[in-house]
Formats: sequence, structure tokens, C-alpha cells
Amino acid sequence: MNQEAKPVNNLHGKVCIVTGSTSGIGLVTAKNLAQMGATIVLVARDEARGKSALAEVIECSGNDNAELLMCDFSSQPSIVAFTEAFKRKHTQLDILVNNAGMMSNERLETDSGIELTFAVNHLGYFITTNLLLDMLKESPASRIIVVASDLHQQGKIDPNDIMHKHDYHGFTAYCDSKLANLLFTYKMAAILQGSGTTINALHPGVIKTKFGINDRNSDMRFPMGRVSPEVGAKAQIYLSASPEVQGISGKYFNEMCMERSSAMSYDEALADVLWQKSMEYSSMSIK
Ligand SMILES: NC(=O)c1ccc[n+]([C@@H]2O[C@H](COP(=O)([O-])OP(=O)(O)OC[C@H]3O[C@@H](n4cnc5c(N)ncnc54)[C@H](OP(=O)(O)O)[C@@H]3O)[C@@H](O)[C@H]2O)c1
Repeated sequence: MNQEAKPVNNLHGKVCIVTGSTSGIGLVTAKNLAQMGATIVLVARDEARGKSALAEVIECSGNDNAELLMCDFSSQPSIVAFTEAFKRKHTQLDILVNNAGMMSNERLETDSGIELTFAVNHLGYFITTNLLLDMLKESPASRIIVVASDLHQQGKIDPNDIMHKHDYHGFTAYCDSKLANLLFTYKMAAILQGSGTTINALHPGVIKTKFGINDRNSDMRFPMGRVSPEVGAKAQIYLSASPEVQGISGKYFNEMCMERSSAMSYDEALADVLWQKSMEYSSMSIK
């Protein structure tokens, strides 16, 4: 356990899902939440990497209330199968950390014809959260964490070309997907008002992780990131577990400081269009 990300809360009795928990800040988050006593559900697309992460979480935390579920967030049937498997086993969900993310140099489409970055980085969060929403609302003071990025500031969502059919650029698609994370967070916060469930988004900092390494079509790296994943995971651990943010919802945290995100991220009409289109693209998954 590193010295910088100290436990801030007791999570005994809480059930947490951390997506993208095979490496980087997702793995560190899972380890820290497990160390605070939570039951941790790791989510991975690759079984070997998932099992290795699970073993690391158990060893590092000494908490064997940890399990692995498989999900490839580019596949809607896979998201449905993962959330159903979770619901079969658990009766509560206290913390959902939407963290899995990627980027691709080349414009790729999922089996359902959705541009891959939008599918994994935005629809992955959108569908997972919506499919687990009833359970989150039934769990007192539950929290949804959305791992976005300050690169959302460079994002621009064109409602007529959300899939980047024209003029695709991997970095642009990534920035746009992170803007989508914020539009989603703010609209979901409005929907959840009064429910007891909170949702907040964050920029974790610029961190040296394996980001993009397992995606053959990505050369996005964060080599400029001098921050270790142990330090970089602090914001999502804070938003997941700290009593300081209890009841706070619909906010953007740059690392651990609450601040305003880009002007476009507060565009409610754009958020409505994105929501509507996301419902259409996920109509097979969300009934
Ligand atoms: N690093 C930074 O400086 C930085 C800055 C801003 C925001 N972020 C955000 O932080 C989050 C975590 O990134 P990281 O830097 O920790 O990178 P990372 O080490 O590459 O972690 C990304 C995680 O997402 C998983 N993932 C990717 N595509 C997936 C898919 N289709 N289905 C299931 N899982 C998938 C990866 O699984 P595999 O092991 O199978 O690849 C991995 O566990 C991302 O949302 C990223 O956008 C990072």
C-alpha cells in the first residue's frame, strides 16, 4: 500500500464496482477501497489481466471480499451480461466507479456500428450506470464516480456527427468522449436529485499509466505524466469514500478541487441531445 493514498473512510458493508480495474488508476482505486473494507467487484475484458488484478487486490488489502466480473465495454451484450451477473449475486451497490477508457488512432466501429471511443468511453458509462441505477437508488447514499479528463475542455460534440464519420482524429474523439462524460454527469445528477444517490466527475491529473497499451490502434500515452497511479487515483478514491463529499452531486473535480468545467459541458440542450442519441444507440440494452 503506498503512503500517499491513505484510507479516508471505513467501507465495511459497502459494495463497490470499479471498471477498468486491471491497471492504472482503476487498479489502485480497487486496492484502496478494498483496504477500507469494501466488497470490491473488479471488471475486466481480459481474463488473465483480470485474475492477476484480483490477486493483487486481495494480497495488498488483505480483504478477500473481492471478485472479478468480465465485460468488454465496447459490446452492449457484454455490458448487459456483466450487470445481470452482478445483480444475481448482490442486493446492493454503494459505489460505482466508471473508469474504463481508451482511445484509437484509427476510426473503428463496434459490432453494433458505433464508433469505438464513443462506445467505450461514453456509452460504456451511460449503459452501465442506467442498468445499475435502480440498485444504486435502493442503496442509501450511494455514489457514482465518472472518470473524465480535463481534455474535455478541447472537446466539441457535433450532434450531427457524434460518431465522427467525417474527419476522424483519435485525440479529438477522445476529448469529445470526455466532454460527453461531463454532459452525462450533469444530466444524471439532475435526474437523481432527491434520490440520495450522487454522481460526480473528475480529472485525475496527468498520470503515467498503461493507457492505450492494450489497444493496438492507440499511440496515446501519458509519458509527460510524472504522477504515479497511486497518486493519480486519489481523486476517485476521495469521491468514492470521503465523508467530505457526502451529498455533493453534479460537480466536476480537477484532482480533489471542485471547479467549473468547460462552458459547453453545461449546455443542457446539448446534454438532452446526447442523452436522446445515447438512448437510441443503446436501445438494445436499456429497455
Ligand atoms: N492517465 C491519465 O493521465 C489520465 C488523464 C485523464 C483521464 N484518464 C482516464 O482515466 C481512466 C483510466 O485510465 P488509466 O490512465 O488508468 O489507463 P489504463 O491503465 O490503460 O486503464 C484503462 C483501463 O480501462 C480498461 N479498458 C479499456 N478498454 C476497455 C474495454 N473495451 N472494455 C473493458 N475495459 C477496458 C483497461 O483494460 P485492459 O487492461 O484490458 O487494457 C484498463 O483496465 C480512463 O477513463 C482515462 O480516460 C487518465
